[in-house]
Order: sequence, then C-alpha cells, then structure tokens
Amino acid sequence: MLNYPFKYLEESICISVNPTTQGEAIMDQFSTADRTKFSKLKSPAKQQEFLWSRSALLQAGAHLESITYLGKKPITNEAFISLSHCQDGVSAVYSKGLEVGIDIETRRENLRRIAPKFTSEEEKKRFTCDEQTTLQFIWGIKESLFKLYGFGNVDFKQHLDITSFEWNAQTKQGWGTAWITQTCAERNEPIQCLVQTAVVGDHYICIATHRKPMAPIDGKRVRLREWTPQDASWLYELNMNPAVVKYTGDAGFTSEDSALNLIRTYPNYQRDGYGRWMAIDKSTGLPIGWCGLKKNPWGIDLGFRFLEYSWGKGIATECALKTIEKAKHLKLPRLIGRALSENIGSWKVLEKVGMQRYHSVPIEEFAEDFNIASKDLESWKGQMLHMYKLDLK
Ligand SMILES: CC(C)(COP(=O)(O)OP(=O)(O)OC[C@H]1O[C@@H](n2cnc3c(N)ncnc32)[C@H](O)[C@@H]1OP(=O)(O)O)[C@@H](O)C(=O)NCCC(=O)NCCS
Repeated sequence: MLNYPFKYLEESICISVNPTTQGEAIMDQFSTADRTKFSKLKSPAKQQEFLWSRSALLQAGAHLESITYLGKKPITNEAFISLSHCQDGVSAVYSKGLEVGIDIETRRENLRRIAPKFTSEEEKKRFTCDEQTTLQFIWGIKESLFKLYGFGNVDFKQHLDITSFEWNAQTKQGWGTAWITQTCAERNEPIQCLVQTAVVGDHYICIATHRKPMAPIDGKRVRLREWTPQDASWLYELNMNPAVVKYTGDAGFTSEDSALNLIRTYPNYQRDGYGRWMAIDKSTGLPIGWCGLKKNPWGIDLGFRFLEYSWGKGIATECALKTIEKAKHLKLPRLIGRALSENIGSWKVLEKVGMQRYHSVPIEEFAEDFNIASKDLESWKGQMLHMYKLDLK
C-alpha cells in the first residue's frame, strides 16, 4: 500500500494501488461469482491480472466472498467498490458511505488523436497541466465517472462534464468537480461528483466519488436543502439586492450564468459533506434565502442571507438553530460566526443561537489579512468585526 495519493476523503475511502501480494493464496476467499469468472479465464496473463486486482480489493478492505456483479460492475452489499487495471498496474477503492469509481492508466499515446471524441476545448482549458497529463486525466476521470454511474449508455463527451479542476504540480495531485448528466431508471437526476487525480510512478490514477444528497432539514416554517442548478437565477437575484449584500463583502455575480457556474463547480457538499443550503418557505415552496456551513482554513463558518421581506420574523434564527443541530450530527467540533457591528440583525442571530463573542477588531485591521474590496471597506469605515464561536463537543 502506498501513501494515500489524493488530497481529500482519506477518512472515508480506502485505496489500494499495485499491492505486492499477487498470489493465489486469496483464491480460497473468492465468491461463487468470482470463482466462475476466474475459471473462464484461459490466458495466464488474464488470470494473473484477475488475481492481482482481487488482491487490491482485499487490501482496500473488501470481503472477497461477498462480491457479485451488476452487469459488469463488481458490487458487494457491505460497501461501494470499484477496480481498474492497465497493462502493468491495478487499483481498487472501497468505501462504506460514498459511491466510487476508479481508473488507472499508463501513458497512452493515442489520446491526442481521439481527444475530440471524449472532451472539448472548453473542458481542456480548465486544466493547467501539460497537454498529455491533461488528456490522461480527462480520460481517467471520465472512466472513473462511467464506473461510478454503473449503468452503461454514457457518452464521454455528451454526458460527462468536468466543471472545475485544480492541479498541484509539486504533489502531482489534482481535484475538481464533475457532473454525470445521463439519467436512467435507477438514476433519475444528474449527479455531481468530486473527482481526484494523482500521478504515482508511471501511472495516472483517477477516482470519482458521489455522496448522496443531504435529506432536507425541516424547521417549523423553513426547509433547508442543497442547492441545484435550477436555483441559479434566484441566487443571482438575491445577490443583486444591495440591501442583502450591504455587509457581506461579496463581489456579486456578473450574470445569471456566473451564478449557475458557481453551483456547477460548488465542491462543498461532495468534498466536505456540508455547505450552504437553500432556505425554502414551507408555506409557499419558494426560496427565501440561504443558511449553512462553510469550511474555511480558520474554521467552519455559520452564515446566512435572506430576502428582505422575511427579515425580523425569526427566520434566520430558526435556520441557524437547525444548522447547528446538523453540525452536531456531523460531529463538527466548533462553529465560528462573524458580523459587522452595524449589522445588528446578523450578530443578534449569532447570539440568540448561543454563540459567544470572543473578539472584536476594527474592520480595517481585519481587512489586512483578507481580501476585501476597497469599495466595501470605504463604506464600512469605523465598524468593528465581531467574532463568535460555539463549541459543539
Ligand atoms: C442578518 C439577517 C440574516 C437576519 O435575519 P432575520 O430573519 O431578520 O433574523 P431574526 O428575525 O431571526 O433575528 C434578528 C434579530 O435581530 C434584531 N434586529 C434586526 N435588526 C435590528 C436593528 N437594526 N436593531 C436592533 N435589533 C435588530 C431583530 O429584532 C431580531 O432580534 P429579536 O428576536 O431579539 O427581536 C438578515 O437581515 C439578512 O439576510 N441580511 C442580509 C445578509 C447578511 O447581512 N447576512 C449576514 C452576513 S454576516
């Protein structure tokens, strides 16, 4: 087993790449389905590959006795699994909670020629690595998405869209977001996935993971749910309202399309397991704002934003309390909150839900450490930034 090769999710998924055990010792652990499969393999090379890939699955945590097949996809009833092999490598992934797909490849010389079949110029531009690495990753990511999807009938160019990608040349690791837009009876909605890539020795390894959407959280008057691409125009309107963004310091969106892009590249739900959530007025079924969590390098922030007509009715307090309940359920250790001194409604909400003010600094001092637009800083002159915390453990 090598060191965990990806940036995120080390605690939720196990990976095995090129395990050293390749032997026949594991054959007695095979399931009936795998025994049948193995017995049909005639070439020693294919048999060796099969044994090696099962070693990888075993090392990743799977019980080989429980493997069955859904079409060609290996499955077990205890966890999500996926495996991949190439000429001289195998990899496997195992996860109890997240759906997974994995791909391992060696360098493929034909990718430039066939690229127009599986990617677009626009998608390639999201990658900052060299062209060969870019194409290896796009191909590998799409293979892993295809395996995760599991029901075939997927066109790599039409149904798989990598919407963002960040590459670290030093660690040779990358990650981003992607959408599977193909649907079928078993999957009736497009799904978003977190995708991660790594170069390990001579191999390009890609994984895709999908976390089930959060079940909506119901308060008395408000329902919190994950946002979807259909919410883009509403989100755009909210952020265009000067009263709403007066104290938030957001640049706002330049167009409805940029709001849609934010949603399509929003990694938080898939990466962290939580994020900002839409607040829906249960009496009308319409959005009235958002509330939720955000993982920042300095802590997990509790934040909210609502349409003006709903202010002053305790709506933000109801949503913040529900968010705290969820944070406890997720076993998060501590939440932080921040509000400008003039934004009384905001810091009152933080206090009403039990947060403690632990620090107040002139906004000018705070701005030195953070990127706040000069126009906002000008209008906030003389204000204090109140900082709050709530320990959950
Ligand atoms: C901040 C915001 C979320 C508050 O939402 P809300 O639904 O009005 O909040 P609640 O009704 O639950 O509680 C607000 C509290 O502040 C009080 N309050 C609001 N404005 C006040 C003011 N100018 N002076 C004194 N108290 C004020 C309310 O009376 C209420 O307290 P109470 O229950 O003791 O009466 C809402 O104003 C908003 O969306 N603002 C724009 C976005 C924003 O600034 N977000 C926060 C960024 S840090």
